[in-house]
Amino acid sequence: MHFNTNQNDNAMDYITARLGSEGSPMLAFGGDYNPEQWPEETWDEDVRLMREAGVNLVSVGIFSWSLLEPSEGVYEFGWLDRVLDLLHANGIRVDLANATASPPPWFSHKYPESLPVTADGVRHSYGSRQAFAASSRDYRRAAAALTEQIALRYKDHPAVVMWHVHNEYGCHNQPDFSDGAAAGFRSWLENRYGTIEALNHAWGTAFWSQRYYAWAEILPPRTSGTWVNPTQQLDFARYSSDELLECYKAEARIIRSHSGHPVTTNFMGFSMGLHQPVDYWRWAEQMDVVSNDHYLVAEDPRNFQELAATADLTRGWAQGKPWLLMEHSTSAVNWQPRNIAKAPGEMLRNSLQHVARGADGALFFQWRASRAGAEKFHSGMLPHAGTETKVWREVVQLGQALRSLAEVAGSVVTGASGSIDVAIIHDTDARWASELDSHPSVDASNIAETRRWHDAFYRAGIPTDFRQSTDDLSGYRLVVVPMQYLVTDAGAANLDAYVRSGGHLVVTYFSGIADENDHIRLGSYPGAFSDLLGVRMEEFFPLREAETVPLSAFGAGSCWSELGRATTAEVLAQVEVGPVAGSPAVTRNHAGKGRAYYVATSLSADGLAGFLPIVCADAAVAPLVPDLPANVEVVRRSREGTDWTFCINHGMDDVRLPLSGVELISGGDVDGGLSLAAGGVAVLRSRGPLSPRQPIH
Ligand code: GAL
Repeated sequence: MHFNTNQNDNAMDYITARLGSEGSPMLAFGGDYNPEQWPEETWDEDVRLMREAGVNLVSVGIFSWSLLEPSEGVYEFGWLDRVLDLLHANGIRVDLANATASPPPWFSHKYPESLPVTADGVRHSYGSRQAFAASSRDYRRAAAALTEQIALRYKDHPAVVMWHVHNEYGCHNQPDFSDGAAAGFRSWLENRYGTIEALNHAWGTAFWSQRYYAWAEILPPRTSGTWVNPTQQLDFARYSSDELLECYKAEARIIRSHSGHPVTTNFMGFSMGLHQPVDYWRWAEQMDVVSNDHYLVAEDPRNFQELAATADLTRGWAQGKPWLLMEHSTSAVNWQPRNIAKAPGEMLRNSLQHVARGADGALFFQWRASRAGAEKFHSGMLPHAGTETKVWREVVQLGQALRSLAEVAGSVVTGASGSIDVAIIHDTDARWASELDSHPSVDASNIAETRRWHDAFYRAGIPTDFRQSTDDLSGYRLVVVPMQYLVTDAGAANLDAYVRSGGHLVVTYFSGIADENDHIRLGSYPGAFSDLLGVRMEEFFPLREAETVPLSAFGAGSCWSELGRATTAEVLAQVEVGPVAGSPAVTRNHAGKGRAYYVATSLSADGLAGFLPIVCADAAVAPLVPDLPANVEVVRRSREGTDWTFCINHGMDDVRLPLSGVELISGGDVDGGLSLAAGGVAVLRSRGPLSPRQPIH
């Protein structure tokens, strides 16, 4: 089977079907395996322990370039042959990397111009990882040659079931401001605008004497005296993502010309801001399977909700289909200010959250905790202290849990109505543009506001998808637009049509303000949405740090307020005091067959908890479990008439949930009341026969 059509329906099924012993699907379980860091004598113990834990998939070779190609054009595959043979002999499948993530020192030494350059003109040195510029022809040539060698050599290796291109594109080398990037940017701009006049218009270069007369005058937005032209910055983010994507596409093309296994590269969740620009919506179209890496921010008290939001976003990129958790950690990482270890049970909860939200497996960075190098304090599946440890016992326990959940593979995430009823809009351009400098308030953050709304639904037990403003939204009862500062004409028209044909739309402050060139939409705020929302706002009144304004309902607002009035909207809450007293804070407007709500400030968790029932009642959106206890997560996956309800208790109290079914992790029947201990997990299969699965070839 070939997966040359991207995001092929069966690509994740293709993998899970190859993980079980008799072709019966298994959820993926394993992690990055870096045997090259260890003497060969260790490898036998590795595979013995992998079998003990039930590991069925490992990613191999991600950072092996310098060993696989010791000098230009000279390849040494002996050790990798032996590793793959050993894994195969032990029934462990391989997600094989093409090893292009980190060029070797000899390469950077020989081709210094391949190294990326910062906005200040400082060329990166090598000595860490990912030291290359996406625009470098030398890097691309060398990466293509290595990819060709690896694909040819291992395309028929029986252990290999999928391909792992590169690693976390853009993590350490984005954006690059080198001369190569300048040339690439210019041709990207010529392609986008055709004429220099069109570029001048888009960039608004009449401002501050920035008019260009020749393409050669144009540079990346390198450090300047003050703010560089915002549209130039935005276009550079778009270009940088595209330039990097060209690297992926070239390597994936080579692999696909030799092998039919699915191809992926691992994404980095929400880390795709203006200063690490990778537009995963566009990238996802090029993946056979969407895979993501997620690391908890240890000190965030609601990090489990951030995990949930990231998993939901990943499912959005995967268009609702199962995806793969390529990396997370068994315990502490090494790169946060304080690397807090995971509490007992936390890893199991984290892993099952990902699976509940559509991952067909849970993999880790990395199998064996390193002895040397920059990540030696990062947890692994096999810790420094060996197998007599909490981490190892929990790894074995997780392996068992995932085996008992094998039947979940291939199912999709659903909600109370049988599908997911709520979508949150998350356009990459809108996020990037909202992160540009010289805006009304540093506190106005697209990511923070998005997370706040996701959290409100999370607390209410209502599942949410992530979508783009231009997607078909007709399947959703409710769509939320958190701080969509930039919206394209097509996105605005799509959201307008969605409401007029019967949808319910919530728009927050600082949305619809700019078009795709980052030009203000004139007339009134919130630009593109004023008519739809039935409001006419005239001036922003951002609040001082930590200041709040009392509202007539839903508590107090923070971060933002606006001076203005409702035109056709009904005012649900107004600002009570201060310079904008009497201006609307929360409104509802009938438009066509639907309703559009405006929230002109940032509501607290309590405020959102007061507002959500109103809008959910209007839109007929219900939670899976009513009155969900605090910090308890209930998520459902379904396939062909069978439901699996994942229940995860992140709180300190034991709870009882009104659910029935067959509990798959500890086994046993639950009749109307599931007892879930503090920190506990349960997965209930709805009663009734399991429908047989179609065989996968
Ligand atoms: C990821 C990366 C891994 C490892 C991990 C540590 O960003 O892909 O190679 O560095 O972080 O948390």
